[in-house]
Amino acid sequence: MYTRTLLCLLPLICLNGVLSKGRVRKFPPNFLFGASTAAYQIEGGWNEDGKGQSIWDVATHQRPTPIKDGSTGDIAADSYHMYKRDVAMMAELGLDFYRFSISWPRILPNGFADKVNQAGVDYYLNLIEEMEKRNITPFATMYHWDLPQNLQKLGGWTNPHIIDWFADYAKILFDRIGPKVKLWITINEPKQICYEGYGSDAKAPFLNATGIAEYLCAKNVLLAHAKAYRLYNEHYKKIQNGSVGISISCTWYEAASDSNDDFHAAEDARMFDWGQFAHPIFSKAGDFPEQVRRNVASKSAEQGFPRSRLPKLSTKDVATIKGTSDFFGVNTYTTKLAYRDASLDGMYAVPSYMDDMSAVLVKDPTWPQSQSSWLQEVPWGFTKVLKEIKKLYNNPPVYVTENGWSSDGGLLDDDRISYLRHYLGALLDAYSEGCDIRGYTAWSLMDNFEWKSGYTEKFGLYEVDFSSPDRTRTPRKSAFVYKEVIRSRKMDPNYEPNYVVETVEHGTKDDDDNDVF
Ligand code: NOJ
Repeated sequence: MYTRTLLCLLPLICLNGVLSKGRVRKFPPNFLFGASTAAYQIEGGWNEDGKGQSIWDVATHQRPTPIKDGSTGDIAADSYHMYKRDVAMMAELGLDFYRFSISWPRILPNGFADKVNQAGVDYYLNLIEEMEKRNITPFATMYHWDLPQNLQKLGGWTNPHIIDWFADYAKILFDRIGPKVKLWITINEPKQICYEGYGSDAKAPFLNATGIAEYLCAKNVLLAHAKAYRLYNEHYKKIQNGSVGISISCTWYEAASDSNDDFHAAEDARMFDWGQFAHPIFSKAGDFPEQVRRNVASKSAEQGFPRSRLPKLSTKDVATIKGTSDFFGVNTYTTKLAYRDASLDGMYAVPSYMDDMSAVLVKDPTWPQSQSSWLQEVPWGFTKVLKEIKKLYNNPPVYVTENGWSSDGGLLDDDRISYLRHYLGALLDAYSEGCDIRGYTAWSLMDNFEWKSGYTEKFGLYEVDFSSPDRTRTPRKSAFVYKEVIRSRKMDPNYEPNYVVETVEHGTKDDDDNDVF
């Protein structure tokens, strides 16, 4: 038994006033639409053509496995071989750009710049060439979590030498791929790299050195980013004429009550979660946010540490990091409530990032829940994130570099459509309040390996059949809704593609029927 999709040629617009769900809203001229993926999550080809091992290769091959369904990214969506199909999907959707990431160990198998794997470079050049044929702009991320294992052996992001190692890697990318790329992101989601990977055990390398390693990592990530940015600015920008930014995950934390305490809990949560990385780069003063410096220093003193566990940024570091981004890449998905509880006894490890933050973060059970426990639909939180960035950082150009919804599968994804519409509406609300938003990126183009959750959470506009050897990709209903948004440059809440999912029993697959675009 399998399912197939049929799309009538003429999309039906629901004209019934009773069913009307709101007004049609226009996107600004020159606004760009894209979709995003990341190397480890889609490529597969984990040991092909000279690629080295990443921390995720090592983690997923461990037994017992830390991955929920025991899966790996060894093959994933097989984009290493199927990239032409991926580009065809981008064209079907009408994307302006595609945000993908480059696998560091595919380019530098040992992490160091002494040995470049030309086959790895060629893979990305071929992908970009295919995109050029369809007029789709490449938006390339240099680091989306697949650190070469060889560098992890030396401490990975906790070793300050990584600042140079990352800049060496960036130089190779600028030299060999830079002539084809105008939009670069250095690093994807520093907080998740540092806190989840080093300060807890939610992501590889699962170091769990709480309250220490996440802050060592934070300083190194910021300086590595800054070094790569400055390298581009000084040596490449004139010739290649591109922009370089960073993608920071920005969850909105709303005070759980009107109390002063909860107001401060929410503010501290935002400052620990994303201010920690945004402030040093985008604020006028630079450096880590005051709340973060103060909380970590006072907790460290109470705990008997001779100095703050948060490493100091010297005056020179502050100056080096400040201003190193041509745009603010916002990855944003959800909102949480924050409150202050006088006694955090036993709630968090001591020392730890969460204990330093001293806020309790909870979900509101009335908000729509996705397949990912952490992800609920709260569109007004998205507007608040964008307005806060405008307020705190002098209205920088913003690309929303990730936003999306997870389900447990299926082609009829009305929940994803509702999320997409509401979040696009929330983005337009922020735009109408003066936020300088240049583009929107749906996460994700297709289903992929969702880190510790394996393949149990589906984020794709395209479904991927992970049981088929050719990893068949099928557009979900949301793909047609997004396609219409892009085509019309409008968000019409009443637009209904005439999308039918048929279940065919004991049939042979008819590719023509599936080729719906
Ligand atoms: C952000 C990460 O960048 C991406 O890798 C992940 O799959 C999505 N969030 C969804 O969790």
